[in-house]
Amino acid sequence: MKVYIETFGCQMNVADSERAASGLRRAGYELTDSADTADVVLLNTCSVRERAERKVYTRIGELRAETVDRHKPFIGVMGCVAQLEGASIFRSSSDVDMIVGTRATDRIPVMIERLQKGERGLIDLNERAENEIWDVSPVERHSPHVAFVPIIEGCNKFCSFCIVPYSRGREKSRTADELVAEVKRLKEFGYKEVHLIGQNVNSYRPKTTRGLDQVSGATPFSRLLRAIAETGMPRIKFTTSFPRDFHPDIVSAIEEYPNLCDWVHLPVQSGSDRILKAMRRGYTSLDYRRQVERIKTANRRLALTSDIIVGFPGETEKDFEETLQLVKDCEFDSLYIFKYSKRAGTPAASLNDCVPEPIKTERFLRLERAQRDKQDRIFQGYVGRTLTVLAEKPSTRSAADLVGHSSCHKVVNFPGDSALEGQILDVTITAAKTNSLYGQRAEVVH
Ligand code: 5AD
Ligand code: SF4
Repeated sequence: MKVYIETFGCQMNVADSERAASGLRRAGYELTDSADTADVVLLNTCSVRERAERKVYTRIGELRAETVDRHKPFIGVMGCVAQLEGASIFRSSSDVDMIVGTRATDRIPVMIERLQKGERGLIDLNERAENEIWDVSPVERHSPHVAFVPIIEGCNKFCSFCIVPYSRGREKSRTADELVAEVKRLKEFGYKEVHLIGQNVNSYRPKTTRGLDQVSGATPFSRLLRAIAETGMPRIKFTTSFPRDFHPDIVSAIEEYPNLCDWVHLPVQSGSDRILKAMRRGYTSLDYRRQVERIKTANRRLALTSDIIVGFPGETEKDFEETLQLVKDCEFDSLYIFKYSKRAGTPAASLNDCVPEPIKTERFLRLERAQRDKQDRIFQGYVGRTLTVLAEKPSTRSAADLVGHSSCHKVVNFPGDSALEGQILDVTITAAKTNSLYGQRAEVVH
């Protein structure tokens, strides 16, 4: 049996697909990278905004059309849409054979066995079993150089716009000793970078302190950062940070360890205190500015990126102008801007003061322009400077170039052949584009 997994959405979904693939291969299934030859197609779905959610139905339609002349593969829907919509997916699409919730990834092999025996309409929305361990084989990782390491699953925040607490359940942290062992193993396999991932990494709170006892720090997360840094993994990045729980000790840890990278992603969502309150974020614009102050006064320059939602219900022109001002003041290295998308079941879905679509679009564009101005200046400021870049893969734009990320998480393209892939190199920046930098190799440093 050949299984094909297609992944939509965030890094957590990528990590889940890697975990599912590892389990399937262990159970004797073959993984393939095309739906054409697959006996089972698994769609790992995202529901953070309406547009992401609709993709799964478009994709099921395409699969039906593509496989019309041959034996139809089993189709499974996994991930956030599966968890949220459950059995109603069977009613929306008769092509779907099974539904796999966000914590049922390890049970997929057994579910496929049942499909083979003729059962249909399988559904598993249950929690992970107690004895399940996060085990991902290197062959299933999305990159041979950069590995995602989930440290916490789920979210307890219940921001009023967000579906994640419903699709991914309550926060559950992995123990530090397990994480340190995983990062050591990845280092032995030759990985150069890990991303510690979670919906809110600052809430990291394992059941036991095993693996943290010898490390200092003001919060379990800043202690974990130090413990992971001690493994000697060349580069460590983490995402996503939640402003209310972002402790300044995280910046201190970064200052102490050069292998903790020069980048913090700290989504602010809005610059208006009124809207932040309606979003139930638990901080004010001033609180956020204080966090930014600590990040910007670190002993080396840290890149700062953020997320903003425009057009949250009730957002007035004045609220929006406060967001605009905050974006101008914070000088983000990059910014992900989203138009508010109503998610059924969230507290904000019952607010009726909706912002009309054309106003959302206008605000989106104004914010994008303001950010572009700041970002151009920041990116131009890198010209002439030398950054350490992990050469990840050939550039899609030019066969002579490689592409990678700097320690400050900028996309950097530079001339180089594939023999350099997986190396951390010094690259002197010669030109800045809108969302990437271009440079020339200075010298090999590792
Ligand atoms: N509408 C628009 N954007 C959203 N996000 C989360 N939920 C919604 C929603 N309902 C955005 C937030 C979050 C990012 C991952 O997606 O900005 O930080
Ligand atoms: Fe959603 Fe808020 Fe949790 Fe982020 S912190 S995943 S925005 S509920």
